[in-house]
Amino acid sequence: MKVLVTGAAGFIGFHTAKKLVERGDEVLGLDNVNAYYDVRLKEARLDILRRHNGFTFLKADLADRDAVARAFAEFKPERVVNLAAQAGVRYGTENPHAYTESNVTGFLNVLEGRIAAISDRPGPLVDVTLAVGRATIVARLSRRSCERLGLAPGLKAWALVKAVALDRHAVGFA
Ligand SMILES: NC(=O)c1ccc[n+]([C@@H]2O[C@H](COP(=O)([O-])OP(=O)(O)OC[C@H]3O[C@@H](n4cnc5c(N)ncnc54)[C@H](O)[C@@H]3O)[C@@H](O)[C@H]2O)c1
Repeated sequence: MKVLVTGAAGFIGFHTAKKLVERGDEVLGLDNVNAYYDVRLKEARLDILRRHNGFTFLKADLADRDAVARAFAEFKPERVVNLAAQAGVRYGTENPHAYTESNVTGFLNVLEGRIAAISDRPGPLVDVTLAVGRATIVARLSRRSCERLGLAPGLKAWALVKAVALDRHAVGFA
């Protein structure tokens, strides 16, 4: 399976990508390798991942809409694990924009990239795994759910998020 793992140089993203390539998946790891903590640790993780043939690394920022769209168009992932994020709380007092850029704009770009890439394919419309606070949420919004909610096929990410909030039956929580 082709899996896009964002935040692949980070703590959880690294272990996720490693497990996936070890079981034979093809992984595109995306990370901007920012300096929130020691970059050498992130580079060391990427060196481990690069030993696997199934792993490719893309240095990109999730807030860069074009780069994210290109990654989806070229790699064509079957699954997306979105673990790139600005973690922590105290850092927000020094650098509040890092949170909106990575966690809001970046997540929106992932949703938009996913929807654009699969809108002409059958199957679940969205299947994104994301870590929110201390919980991991698997969101899966099926085409049938979209029809039931009267949502257009060219669904936009904001509408998707609203739909997820409105229709808990459309979403599996794990
Ligand atoms: N570590 C935990 O115990 C834990 C527990 C529950 C949830 N989470 C959540 O899981 C997520 C990942 O946590 P982590 O511990 O792996 O953090 P981390 O900081 O180790 O990893 C995040 C990675 O994302 C990258 N990144 C950040 N912003 C980016 C952007 N705009 N574009 C591309 N890459 C970007 C960073 O360079 C980093 O490598 C966070 O949302 C965190 O809140 C973490």
